Amino acid sequence: MSFAHNFQIGLNPSLAVFISQEDISMSNLIRKSLTYITKLSYRILDSLFLPLDKRRIHRAKNIRLIPIEIDRRGGKYAYAEWAHVIGIFQTLINQNLDPKKDPQILDIGCGTGLIGIACEPFLTESGKYIGIDVMAEDIDFCRGYYPPGKYEFVHLDVSNPFYSPNQKDIQIPWPIDSGSIDLATALSVWTHFGEVDARFYLGEVNRVLKPGGTAIITFFLLDDLYEKSLIARDSQQSAFHATRKDRWIFNQPAYGSADWLHPHWAQTPENAIGITSKGFDNLITGAGLQVKNYYPGNWKEIPGLYFQDVIVFNKKP
Ligand SMILES: C[S@@+](CC[C@H](N)C(=O)[O-])C[C@H]1O[C@@H](n2cnc3c(N)ncnc32)[C@H](O)[C@@H]1O
Repeated sequence: MSFAHNFQIGLNPSLAVFISQEDISMSNLIRKSLTYITKLSYRILDSLFLPLDKRRIHRAKNIRLIPIEIDRRGGKYAYAEWAHVIGIFQTLINQNLDPKKDPQILDIGCGTGLIGIACEPFLTESGKYIGIDVMAEDIDFCRGYYPPGKYEFVHLDVSNPFYSPNQKDIQIPWPIDSGSIDLATALSVWTHFGEVDARFYLGEVNRVLKPGGTAIITFFLLDDLYEKSLIARDSQQSAFHATRKDRWIFNQPAYGSADWLHPHWAQTPENAIGITSKGFDNLITGAGLQVKNYYPGNWKEIPGLYFQDVIVFNKKP
């Protein structure tokens, strides 16, 4: 700040307030315009690059299904990041889905279909992917975009305070038959559930899975690895993900829960929710599921399989 500006502030506080508000709104306007131009440029580049790039995909045909920029939602937007995350989950599915001709796969919180693309190679013959989500807009997009027959999408007309605050504030069972699903997936969904939803919907996972069926679900698990990482959580950017290390500190009770916690910046708890080890143990015991594998995520400031923690569950045979 210049001497003249300081002097002005001393001389005439109301003018100083006026100038500073003007400065702020000017810089806001410039920042918003730059953001808009950057987004628009990326959108144009994406629409030019994607068709060219897709023609050069030789070893993983299903990733040609990755949608254009405006339809890549769910917290992951870059084309490369979609391809990367699809690869991770396709590998996990390959490792955990018994080879068979007609796997029935349920993707909870499907967004615009990232996991649906990872499932595509497994949907030979009469296999089926069902995506379910509370966001009508995403379900509409998926219904128009993915080939019907193999793919089915269901809109769940209930509230998630972050994603669908205007829908009914109730929990209703999914319109899916009990014991009909081989594999249930949920990428970045239980990380947006408070305790009541987390318990209800994990119960639903157990209900719809066949005996011996598998679920692959991501969490922010507040376990020993997380506790150990707290000491290094300063404002610097992480070595493993492109956000600040102190962004992922879960220390505010979500709706008064002792075990479901959100970070201080969350506008609603469902922006991001982590679960303590005690809460998690209690959650899975209540749902009747067993943990088969645990892959800590790089949000824990370690080289992780993915960003969030990935847990593979088995329903007892
Ligand atoms: C972070 S996004 C992830 C989307 C997708 N799984 C992906 O990774 O691209 C979370 C998704 O969960 C959905 N969701 C939130 N609450 C839900 C609920 N109770 N039932 C089904 N979907 C829900 C949201 O609408 C949103 O699409």
